[in-house]
Amino acid sequence: MFILAVSGSAIGLGNIWKFPYITGVNGGGAFVIIYLICIFSIGLPIMISEIMIGRKGKRNPITSMEILGIEETGNGVWKIVGFIGLMAGFLILSFYSVIAGWTFHYFLLTLQGLFIETSAMEVKTVFNQLTQSIPKQLIYHSFFMILTVSIISKGVRNGLEKAVYFMMPALLIIMCVLLYYSITQGNFSEGVSFLFKPDFSIITASTILVAMGHAFFTLSLGMGCVVMYGAYLEEHESIFKTSIIIVLCDTFIALFAGLIIFPIVFANNLDPGAGPGLIFQTLPLAFGQINGGILFGALFFALISFAALTSAISLLEPSVVWLIEKRQIRRSTAAILMGLLIWSMGIFTILSFNNLSSFVFWKGTIFDNIDFLASNILLPISGLLFTVFASWFMSHKSSKRELSDTTILQYNIWRFLARYIAPLAVIIILINFIGVF
Ligand code: PHE
Repeated sequence: MFILAVSGSAIGLGNIWKFPYITGVNGGGAFVIIYLICIFSIGLPIMISEIMIGRKGKRNPITSMEILGIEETGNGVWKIVGFIGLMAGFLILSFYSVIAGWTFHYFLLTLQGLFIETSAMEVKTVFNQLTQSIPKQLIYHSFFMILTVSIISKGVRNGLEKAVYFMMPALLIIMCVLLYYSITQGNFSEGVSFLFKPDFSIITASTILVAMGHAFFTLSLGMGCVVMYGAYLEEHESIFKTSIIIVLCDTFIALFAGLIIFPIVFANNLDPGAGPGLIFQTLPLAFGQINGGILFGALFFALISFAALTSAISLLEPSVVWLIEKRQIRRSTAAILMGLLIWSMGIFTILSFNNLSSFVFWKGTIFDNIDFLASNILLPISGLLFTVFASWFMSHKSSKRELSDTTILQYNIWRFLARYIAPLAVIIILINFIGVF
């Protein structure tokens, strides 16, 4: 069940919405290769580290880090790592909810048959109408936050895991239908070469940072939610194997989404670098043309909304549990309080697409900056600290016990990656970005 909970957290808008859009903006193949290297050399060892910390600490990420910090190093200051993660989760959920709202809107539009035989131009107009409308986005954003808060209030983890169990195969089936469309109707060869043929000349320090940040984002790392879920992992289950399965599934779904979307982009002369609207401007074209498009389309957007919901729950859960333990308040009060704060923050993302769209600084609009700060700076920093703690400060005995089912070679691979490769890579990429080198 743990696998399902973490997969529910990991697989979400990051795979279907964000991966294709940032791959498009960052020029394709070379970005994808750097992303894959980051997933396996940084993401995987950090996921193992975070689960270890969670299972040993057994509490919310902040308290777990405090307890383990005192136990292993005599210093509770490690709880700061949990705080950085919570801050990132707070920022991420604020925009995540807005985008999840978009997917829900598209579910309704598809159900109404709006995209039948539609053109690329019309699809673009529909998307612009949504992003220009503050009230519409507010309604969907509120709806999504209310849903997330009410599920968290009830603490229905078990039901969700069962739902994820059905969601994944259903999502895969629809993605296969879409892939068939892309192969037959899209410009498949150009899509594949965009996705996998690297051109390293276009890579900058910022591109590398975005690829690494996305490895954290898509695997839900650095934010404490894997630590949180790790607390529920049974002692006899294998952290090593579980992590590998989750990482492989997540990566598979992201690449799959890319293979679906880019052939449609090129067949319709769309811009791969269209930004956050990319999937909303491409997939409706496919649904408009295939047999049963209304059904498949509506199901697809419903499933994505659902995948977003299971991720959103994991984004909110750690801060709510922390609030409950810290302030001794009721679960529902904590959930509503955090939900309200995050909801208000989300308004800035909504405005980034209309009234404040020309208010650009540093990385772009307010939304771009919130995303950049949270995903590419905060997640890597706290992920780095989680892994440094697990591999350098946790005693050999403790980490060996958590990874007791691994062979010596597997254990040493984790330890080498977690001690040297992942921390060094994160530090070098961050410093390189800051421009010190
Ligand atoms: N991993 C989720 C996704 O890909 C997003 C997420 C990020 C969830 C960080 C939890 C923590 O959509």
